[in-house]
Amino acid sequence: MNPLIAPSILAADFANLQSAIEMINSSEADYIHVDIMDGVFVPNISLGIPVVEAIHRHANKPLDVHLMIVEPDKYLSTFQKAGASHLTVHLEACPHLHRTVQGIKDLGCKAGVALNPHTPVRLLEDIIREVDLVLLMSVNPGFGGQKFIDNTYKKVNALSKLIVETGSHARIEIDGGVSMDNAGKLFSAGANILVAGNFVFSSKNPAETIKKLKNIV
Ligand code: DX5
Ligand code: ZN
Repeated sequence: MNPLIAPSILAADFANLQSAIEMINSSEADYIHVDIMDGVFVPNISLGIPVVEAIHRHANKPLDVHLMIVEPDKYLSTFQKAGASHLTVHLEACPHLHRTVQGIKDLGCKAGVALNPHTPVRLLEDIIREVDLVLLMSVNPGFGGQKFIDNTYKKVNALSKLIVETGSHARIEIDGGVSMDNAGKLFSAGANILVAGNFVFSSKNPAETIKKLKNIV
């Protein structure tokens, strides 16, 4: 599978979102990663539904919406209507994950499950065949610009193995601290999609950085 890149809008200038979206539109990026934080599941608040709608109005790439919120079931249909094509919930926030994943698919979205750095991949054993995407957090969720956690490589290996063993079609997405220092190794280990926030938006030429990440292997 071709390496896919999802620039994270969290690292963009929020007073100039339109230009960030236009940059992504004309780049080689595959998705726009949109981080939703509620100040409860994670110790930060990011952006809400009207902003997702506005991003969607300008975007020509699918919105990959990462819900770092408690009780995500309450908002799935709202985010789908706001323009999400992928909806990812945290395993740690979902006591009835099977039902939640089904609910996302019933809305016509791709269903993603995210794991925090401490959550073992084996907990996905009985759901992996149902999900379209597994997002491995490679930092503790809540903030951009953090240092990549090296144990992620081990988790990518374990997840690749689980996907092959179960015949799942799930893709592997990595989120947090992605840069040229780890992108090649992550793709080689079996990752399919890399989220990149600060590394893209703090670079001199973000579209060129996206291209470099995508073509690293
Ligand atoms: C962190 C978010 C990430 C964040 C990544 O909680 O889920 O998507 O935007 O940002 P960087 O690439 O700067 O670590
Ligand atoms: Zn994210």
